[in-house]
Amino acid sequence: MTGLDHFSMAEEAAAIIRTHDAPDPSVACVLGSGLAGLADAVTDPMLIPYEEIPHFPRPTVAGHHGNMILGRVGGVPVAFLQGRFHYYEGHTLETAAFPVRVLARLGVEVLILTAATGGIAPHLAPGDLVLVTDHLNLLGANPLRGPNNERFGPRFPDMSTVYDVELRAIAEEEAAGLGHSLKPGVYAALSGPSYETPAEIRMLRTLGADVVGMSTVPEAIVARHMGLRVLAFALVTNAAAGVGQTPISHAEVLERGAEAGGRLGRIIERVIGRLRQ
Ligand code: HPA
Repeated sequence: MTGLDHFSMAEEAAAIIRTHDAPDPSVACVLGSGLAGLADAVTDPMLIPYEEIPHFPRPTVAGHHGNMILGRVGGVPVAFLQGRFHYYEGHTLETAAFPVRVLARLGVEVLILTAATGGIAPHLAPGDLVLVTDHLNLLGANPLRGPNNERFGPRFPDMSTVYDVELRAIAEEEAAGLGHSLKPGVYAALSGPSYETPAEIRMLRTLGADVVGMSTVPEAIVARHMGLRVLAFALVTNAAAGVGQTPISHAEVLERGAEAGGRLGRIIERVIGRLRQ
């Protein structure tokens, strides 16, 4: 970390990204575990490895590449992030969500988040796609902790509607048009990296969680801090601990991500196409 504040760091990163010959993105998509293939939807892709972007952290997790891909989807200029940063890797939440700061400085107005999750609600099964309607931040930390930079947003940002109602309606329409089911649900973020115990999953169910994961929420909070519109999809890669009978493995999570990626990719492509100005 340098002595620079995050605003200047985000500006520096955005300035380097702009030196590449690609349109400034208005929509960005963060690809979760096993979902890196969704970037195949990007036409005329320009790939920028994270190590070429100043102040970007490095992903340390299998299944998470480290590239920003600029280009277009359905004519809309986009940035797809292959690989994200998690609290469990040792990053602060502020660092984990730094790429979202950079995307906003690049002009992104809509952020689409995707994540692999464990299914808690009894009606969810592996392979299901969940449209996130709200979240529980159980990470034990908040990415906005510390001095607030008013250039990013207010000290106490409202979180009463994190996941944009209009974007959710578009996602539901497009999923239905493709014949895919999209189930609404609440995402609980826990720090990991150990998966939950059955007792923890029972607790989460009582608290109103439908799916559980280790990402998404810091990015959504930071995006809302800056006034971005947020849409989030959770892919159920496994039954949460105690809901299913088998132990949970990261390999299974990646495999399910790859299987369902095509379905989710087509929905996201259609949603982005609807955002053309
Ligand atoms: N728990 C937490 N995170 C996850 C899971 C899970 O069961 N599956 C995929 N990501």
